[in-house]
Amino acid sequence: MRQSVRFRAASAAAQQPQPQIAQAASPVQAQAPAQVSFANDIMPLFKQFQGPMMWRLDLTSYEAVKANAQTIFDQISTQSMPPPPFPPLKAEQIATFKAWMDEGYPP
Ligand code: HEM
Repeated sequence: MRQSVRFRAASAAAQQPQPQIAQAASPVQAQAPAQVSFANDIMPLFKQFQGPMMWRLDLTSYEAVKANAQTIFDQISTQSMPPPPFPPLKAEQIATFKAWMDEGYPP
């Protein structure tokens, strides 16, 4: 008997709606601008980090960002970059970067 009560409790918990996950997933799909370009959307996003990151990677260079786009995406989407104390990029900004990649890196 005890076992079945525990089982019910566990499955009820598993069936709880998880609004945070749903909210986190949707902006990534929805909020990127329709047309994204490096000059208008990506470069302005990274320009503030140019100083501390320049030694490693010029985030304001189209060619450098394009060549390292997947690594950059991995870093910003896992919030590894920018490092603390800088605030992580917003979901909308990460979505914009992903859209820029998906659209074929428009300059
Ligand atoms: C949105 C802004 C930023 C982006 C997209 C970015 C991206 C990256 C990328 C792609 C790497 C290379 C990772 C690899 O080789 O696997 C990196 C490394 C690094 N970045 Fe940034 N970065 C940003 C901001 C910053 C800032 C503000 C700082 C310093 C205050 C910083 C410090 C570093 C350091 C120290 C490394 C070397 C870490 C290592 O190699 O282990 N970055 N970053």
